[in-house]
Amino acid sequence: MKKTTKVAALMLAVAMMLTACGGNADQAADAADTGIASPEASTPDEAPADTETPASDEEASTDAETTAAVTKTEGVITFGTNAEFPPFEFVASSGVIDQYDGIDMAIAKQIAEENGMTAAVENMEFDSLLVALQNGQIDAAIAGMTVTEERKEAVDFSTPYYTATQVMIVKEDSDIASAADMADKKICVVQGYTGEVCVQDMGYPYEAFKKGTEAVMELVNGKCDVVVIDSATAQKYVGDNEGLKIVEDSEAFESEEYAIAVQKGNTALLDMINTAIEAKLADGTISELGVQYTEAE
Ligand code: ARG
Repeated sequence: MKKTTKVAALMLAVAMMLTACGGNADQAADAADTGIASPEASTPDEAPADTETPASDEEASTDAETTAAVTKTEGVITFGTNAEFPPFEFVASSGVIDQYDGIDMAIAKQIAEENGMTAAVENMEFDSLLVALQNGQIDAAIAGMTVTEERKEAVDFSTPYYTATQVMIVKEDSDIASAADMADKKICVVQGYTGEVCVQDMGYPYEAFKKGTEAVMELVNGKCDVVVIDSATAQKYVGDNEGLKIVEDSEAFESEEYAIAVQKGNTALLDMINTAIEAKLADGTISELGVQYTEAE
């Protein structure tokens, strides 16, 4: 049997997310307030210390404890994403932020605009998002990103806004009915996604692709037997391709929670994001977006 997977490429991703399959949902919510000061922020003394009102002008002269620059460009929140993950983010002919569309993009735009700012998107590989956050290339990552203990060591997460689980996409006539049935099958995953970690934890060999669509094409073409990926994205792929179905196994795959990530210690931005997300969860905006983008074909 082929036991060599693409080890080299995986080392980094794996080191960052050696979690058991699924997130630890209850720990997700308290990710926020470490008082750690933002490492690279150049301690501007202009920022007022009290509230996160973004309109506050830079002349306010209280030189209190670092409410460091909330974002890298004043008035703009630069969101990093990987626009290969419908219905959360994908490239469209015209999206809500430039060509980028999806549930996450709509949320990002609203968070910015409700705070008198604009949202910009940097599209990159999923694997690059945490590093881009750490080195200040982006202000926040919104990418259907599951909260995991390992990622929490690198970044701070917002209040979770969506619950998902890993599922298996198979051909309609497949005999795979549970995760255990994958044992002697050819498994495809997407590199750096929690689905990869799940399969790895199960000890099965697999092949990792850069994009969900590539893994699904492999399945459609009969070159692999099963794709393990997040539930809502799987639904999209099954809707877009004939002859596929979804198999769930809630014992093998725990639930995961998606949240927005910010640089460790950027509490001003995190508070702004949390306030917005909590309001959107409470008033139904996020579930409406969910319906809107999962029904859209
Ligand atoms: N939820 C999975 C994870 O956090 C997959 C996310 C993929 N997101 C994307 N925008 N490509 O690993």
